[in-house]
Amino acid sequence: MEENDNCPTMVKDLSWITGWAHRLIGEVLKFGETAVDLTAGNGHDALFLFQCVGQDGRVVAFDIQDAALEATAHRIERAGGRVFRHEKDAAPEAMGKPAVHLIAACHSQIDRFLPGRVAAVIANLGYLPGGGVRLPVTRRETTVEAIGKALELIEPGGRLAVVAYVGHTGGREEAAGVEALVSNLPPLEWSTIRVAPVNRPGAPFLLSAEKRTLL
Ligand SMILES: C[S@@+](CC[C@H](N)C(=O)[O-])C[C@H]1O[C@@H](n2cnc3c(N)ncnc32)[C@H](O)[C@@H]1O
Repeated sequence: MEENDNCPTMVKDLSWITGWAHRLIGEVLKFGETAVDLTAGNGHDALFLFQCVGQDGRVVAFDIQDAALEATAHRIERAGGRVFRHEKDAAPEAMGKPAVHLIAACHSQIDRFLPGRVAAVIANLGYLPGGGVRLPVTRRETTVEAIGKALELIEPGGRLAVVAYVGHTGGREEAAGVEALVSNLPPLEWSTIRVAPVNRPGAPFLLSAEKRTLL
């Protein structure tokens, strides 16, 4: 696989946690590979994944809000990506490659849609920024289920990056659930890291896991 110079992986501000998530994913994600965004939102992360995998790769992104999927579709199409929209009943065979697939379903259903292994998974938790209403927001139960299933899909050398927020109702419980999941991954199979601004209590933080390549 061709080396990837396309990922904008600079962290311009050390406290910018999404930048760290992109950096950790961009280090391993290559042209032509498959990446997943568990929370499409405004499409910034999905666009980043698309830039990493390029026109020959595949991005599969989930959201339960039409407005989020619409915003993500526009962002990717403006960047030259081929976007396909899917409803809850879509089959894994419909997630062909190359393409960007946007699925209107809860991310906890990820195992029903992915046709195989993936190189990277990103999840930027919380609610869609920019709107006045802070709903719908990601929730501990479905988030932990989604991330648990996503971990099973990650191929050796692949990475997960989760940005967790504690400032809104339920955020602290959700972040704790994800942290418990990542903390309990077997160290012979997974390398893990937590990135957090140490001088900003309550700031978003990053949990990342890499599936180890067994020798
Ligand atoms: C912080 S935003 C994501 C930001 C996004 N990754 C970006 O780059 O703009 C969180 C998103 O998660 C979505 N969401 C909430 N619960 C969800 C669920 N159960 N399954 C999928 N998406 C969900 C929300 O609709 C919202 O758009």
